[in-house]
Amino acid sequence: MTDMNPKQYHAYAMRQLSQVPGIDPEMPGRDIKQVAVIGAGLMGSGITVCFLRAGIPTILVDQTEEALAAGLKSIAKALGSGVKRGMLTPDQVKGVQLLVSTTLCYDDLKDADLIIEAVFERMDIKEAIFKRLGEVAKESALLATNTSGLDVDQIAAASGRPADVLGLHFFSPAHVMPLLEIVRGKETSAEALKTALYVSTITNKTGVVVGNCQGFAANRMLESYARESEFLGLEGASAAEIDQAMTNYGFPMGPCTMGDMAGVDVRNYVLDSMKSARLIPDDPRYGTMSKALFAEGRLGQKTRAGNYDYGEDGRTPIPSEKVVEIRDRIAAELGIQKREISEEEIVSRLLLPVINEAAKILEEGIINSPSDVDILWIYGYGFPFAKGGPVYQARQMGLDKVRDNLNAYKEADEEFGEIYWAPSASLGRLFE
Ligand SMILES: NC(=O)c1ccc[n+]([C@@H]2O[C@H](COP(=O)([O-])OP(=O)(O)OC[C@H]3O[C@@H](n4cnc5c(N)ncnc54)[C@H](O)[C@@H]3O)[C@@H](O)[C@H]2O)c1
Repeated sequence: MTDMNPKQYHAYAMRQLSQVPGIDPEMPGRDIKQVAVIGAGLMGSGITVCFLRAGIPTILVDQTEEALAAGLKSIAKALGSGVKRGMLTPDQVKGVQLLVSTTLCYDDLKDADLIIEAVFERMDIKEAIFKRLGEVAKESALLATNTSGLDVDQIAAASGRPADVLGLHFFSPAHVMPLLEIVRGKETSAEALKTALYVSTITNKTGVVVGNCQGFAANRMLESYARESEFLGLEGASAAEIDQAMTNYGFPMGPCTMGDMAGVDVRNYVLDSMKSARLIPDDPRYGTMSKALFAEGRLGQKTRAGNYDYGEDGRTPIPSEKVVEIRDRIAAELGIQKREISEEEIVSRLLLPVINEAAKILEEGIINSPSDVDILWIYGYGFPFAKGGPVYQARQMGLDKVRDNLNAYKEADEEFGEIYWAPSASLGRLFE
C-alpha cells in the first residue's frame, strides 16, 4: 500500500467502507420515504436540512412550539446559505421547505421510515424517547440516535427492539460536514446497517461503520490530539503557534480554533463523562486548560472568547492575553517549565497519539479497516487529502520509526509516558 499515491490510496480506502463484516454488499436496505427528527436544536435542524435537500419529507419534533419555530428558522437560514453558495436556487428552497412539517406529538411518527433523535445529551431523556419510539414507530422503521458519546446499546435496549437501533453520528454543522459515523450496536441488524449506509449516500455523506465505545472512533482518536494540544500549550506553545503548525501541515484549521468552533463546553462534557467512566489518568495536566477556560465562561466562538478572543464577526481568532495569563498560572502551579517548541514537535506530538489510538480501536474492532482512520480524519477533521491520512503517513514513516518516536516521547514523560505513549501492541496491524 505504501506504493499507492494518496489519491489512489483514497480511492482504495473509499471502496473499503462498503466491506462491513456481516453485510452482503448486494443486500438491499430499507426504503426511506419519510424521516422524523426529534430535537429541533443545532444538530436536529442541520440533520433535517440534509434530508430536505435529498427531497425527503421530514417531520421535526420538539417539546414546545417555540423550539420548533427556532428550528424552522435555523433550517431556513441553512437553506438560504445553500443559495449563496450556489447549491440551491431560491425556487428550489421554496419547494424543499414544503417538505418539512412539525409536531409535538409522537403519534405523528407512526409512518416514518427513519427516526433520528437529536435531543440533549442525557441518557435518561434518550432512554425515555426510545421507549416511546418502541411503541409508536412502525415495525420496519430504523431508529437512530445522534449521541456524541452515550452508550448506543443502552439507548437501543430502551426501545425494546435493539436490532433496529444504531447511532447516526452527524458532525456539526450537520448540513455541511461530510462525515457520518454509523455506530453499530451489539444487536444492530445487518439490514439496519445497510439502510444506514444508504442514508449516508442519499444525504451526500461519507458513511463509516464504527463500533460502540466512548467517543466512537473519530472523537476517541481526537481526544489524544486534544490532550496533547493542551499539554503543548502548558509547555509554552501559544494557541496561534499550535494552530499555525497544523495549518502549515495542511489542515484547514488547528486544534485550538477547532476547539473554539466546537465549543469549550462540549470538551468539558466529554472530560466529565470520561472522568466518570474512569478513562482519565490521575494527571493534573489533563483537561485543566479546558476546565479553566470553561470556568471563565470562555466557551469558544459562541461567547466570542475561548482559546482566542473573537472580534465583532465572532469568527476571526485574535491571540488572547487572558488565555496566556491562565495558561502561565496553571503551568506555574504544576511546575511545568516553559520552553521553545518546534513546529515539527507540535505536528508529531499531535499525530503520533492518533496513530497509536488508531491501532487500539482497530484491535478492539471499533473500526473495520486501518484505512477507515484516514477517511474519518479527512472527512471529519480536515486532514490534508494530499497527505493521505494519519495511517497513510505512518506507513510512509515505517513501523520502526513510528515505534521509536512513540518510545522517545514515552521516555520523556517519566510519570505518564507509559499511559500516553507506550506503542500499542497492535501497532503492526496498521501496516498489514
Ligand atoms: N453540538 C455538536 O457539535 C454535536 C455534534 C454531534 C452530536 N451532537 C449530539 O446531538 C444531540 C443534540 O445536540 P445539539 O447540540 O443539537 O443540542 P441543542 O441543545 O441545540 O438541541 C436539543 C434540542 O432537543 C430538544 N429536546 C430536549 N428534550 C426533548 C424531548 N424530550 N423531546 C423532544 N425534544 C427535546 C430541545 O428543546 C432542543 O431543541 C446531542 O446528543 C449531542 O451530543 C452534538
